[in-house]
Amino acid sequence: MAKIISLAKRRGFVFPSSEIYGGFGSSYDYGPLGVLMKNNIKKAWWDEMILRQDGMVGLDSAILMSPRVWEASGHLTAGFADELVECGKCRRRYRKDFVEGKKCPECSGLLSEPRKFNLMMKTFVGPLEDEASATYLRAETCQGIYLNFENVLNSMRLKLPFGIAQIGKAFRNEITPKDFIYRTREFEQMEMQWFCPPEKAPEFFDFWKEQRLRWYGSLGMRKENLRCTEVPASDRAHYARAQIDIEYKFPFGWKEIEGVHNRGDFDLSNHSKHSGKDLSYFDEEKKKKYFPYIIETSVGVERSLFAFLCDAYEEVAGGRSQTTKAVKEKEIVLRLNRFLSPVKAVVLPLVKNEKRITEKAREVYGALKNSFVIQYDEQGSVGRRYRRADEIGVPLALTVDFDSLEKDDVTVRDRDTMQQERISIKDLKEALKEKLGS
Ligand code: GAP
Repeated sequence: MAKIISLAKRRGFVFPSSEIYGGFGSSYDYGPLGVLMKNNIKKAWWDEMILRQDGMVGLDSAILMSPRVWEASGHLTAGFADELVECGKCRRRYRKDFVEGKKCPECSGLLSEPRKFNLMMKTFVGPLEDEASATYLRAETCQGIYLNFENVLNSMRLKLPFGIAQIGKAFRNEITPKDFIYRTREFEQMEMQWFCPPEKAPEFFDFWKEQRLRWYGSLGMRKENLRCTEVPASDRAHYARAQIDIEYKFPFGWKEIEGVHNRGDFDLSNHSKHSGKDLSYFDEEKKKKYFPYIIETSVGVERSLFAFLCDAYEEVAGGRSQTTKAVKEKEIVLRLNRFLSPVKAVVLPLVKNEKRITEKAREVYGALKNSFVIQYDEQGSVGRRYRRADEIGVPLALTVDFDSLEKDDVTVRDRDTMQQERISIKDLKEALKEKLGS
């Protein structure tokens, strides 16, 4: 875990927020490589859930909504509260299920009896900070989907079953944010809500669970590090009739990365009741009205990024590069799936002090940089540069050497197989597209 956190900071994936002020409540900033990787994850999810599925449309709803939404959704009541205990000595607060026994893990002071703590983040809209202007930052993106159920149904002329998917920020006033970017107060969710006739819900629940598992596999996540856990009724979210957690084997144990829920008619019926607007659906075939059931898939962008980083991280004792003779310390290879890798290729002039070589390398870089996220690197030995590229998961290294001057080609080295092949510069763009599957 410490190694991954260190790599993430050192190489520009994840920085602690407000670091120069001593940090801020487990908030994180995503650096140049982190933002590229996050975008790649979001694109992979969007392509999978919207482009490749039938009957699926996208949405981008507001973060701020009427506070009545959160009354209807059950988030302002005990359903969305964790149990908090407080140390009588140092006043530190913990989620009850994160501590064992009655003693404070920091100072051994006595912990209080648990009390409920609501996780909604309150804010005020407009110039007055009174109860009339209070609302909440959304705690899950899906509520915006339910509010737009009818708008989307009518504007897109949809029929059941169909789905609405969106990606966006969510906020929770977590008592104990922890484990790096695993649990934070601000995060991004990728959520899909599938509306279907009630009797079809169990079948679609299984279908979406399988689809989601397949997605992780298609992005190279190791099978042995993924599992599904059925959540018993006593532990389920307040809206769920059935719940499966997709879990990843993190360095700190098996933990949920995605939830698949059968939310029944909880959301549409409650929003109908609280708003006075009938959100039931008229089924023309059955000639009757009912509230569709909802199957939900919900995953955090940062949690999945963390899981993909852990899954890809590999240390090779003694090193694996054959280009340097001196035997070396361990090397890190980030075996990210090519689609997720933030940087797709690096252009390396074999030597820095031969103008013809650096000029050609810059020419290669210039010819590719509008089509791929690539880097140019001439600092240090070529072996060191390969290692730097491996450490951030660059799938392809393109080396310009003395032969390149004669043959107008480059050596393309594959991160995983370490195999090298010469490819003519004129064919490079097409070859890269094929190798990267883009
Ligand atoms: N709409 C359903 C819902 O929000 P959830 O299980 O509370 O369900 C779904 O959250 C996913 O959102 C989680 O599996 C996780 O990936 C992400 N998530 C939830 N709370 C988070 C937090 N505090 N920090 C980071 N990600 C979080």
